[in-house]
Amino acid sequence: MRASRPMIRFCLLILALTVAAALFAVNTAPAAGVLGDAAKGAGPYKTYCMSCHGEKGDGTGPAAAALNPKPRNFTDKAYMKTLTDEYVVKVITEGGQAVGKSPLMVSWKAVLKPEEIKDVAAYVRSFAK
Ligand code: HEC
Repeated sequence: MRASRPMIRFCLLILALTVAAALFAVNTAPAAGVLGDAAKGAGPYKTYCMSCHGEKGDGTGPAAAALNPKPRNFTDKAYMKTLTDEYVVKVITEGGQAVGKSPLMVSWKAVLKPEEIKDVAAYVRSFAK
């Protein structure tokens, strides 16, 4: 039995709509990467992180002197290579305690949106490049 012409047209129309919907979804979906935009992360870093982690990310911010353990040196390439992007996002989101580190590194999820945390994480990464 041969499919009727209107039937074929209908199927082609559905196919075209499906392709259009898929293209729309791909174009509007947010970037799926773990890290965000480092340039956008610079502002929040200076506001919330620099006091401890330092302007250059080397862990020598003015508040760092009072901390034990001290914040790590984000410019140390060999050390930073041992941390995954997922870990960096997690420690900023959940705080140091969630990964077995200092509770003085607090959770930032009440202050920064998930996208902002991704941007800050990208900025943290940029110190070792
Ligand atoms: C009150 C000081 C303080 C502030 C403010 C602070 N941190 Fe931390 N941070 C720490 C300390 C202390 C550690 C834990 C160091 C350790 O235990 O090795 C830490 C750990 C981290 C780590 C994990 C490093 C590692 O080696 O595992 C990341 C990443 C990080 N902080 C990013 C940030 C970001 C981004 C911000 C701002 C949103 C921020 N911190 C704000 C003190 C601070």
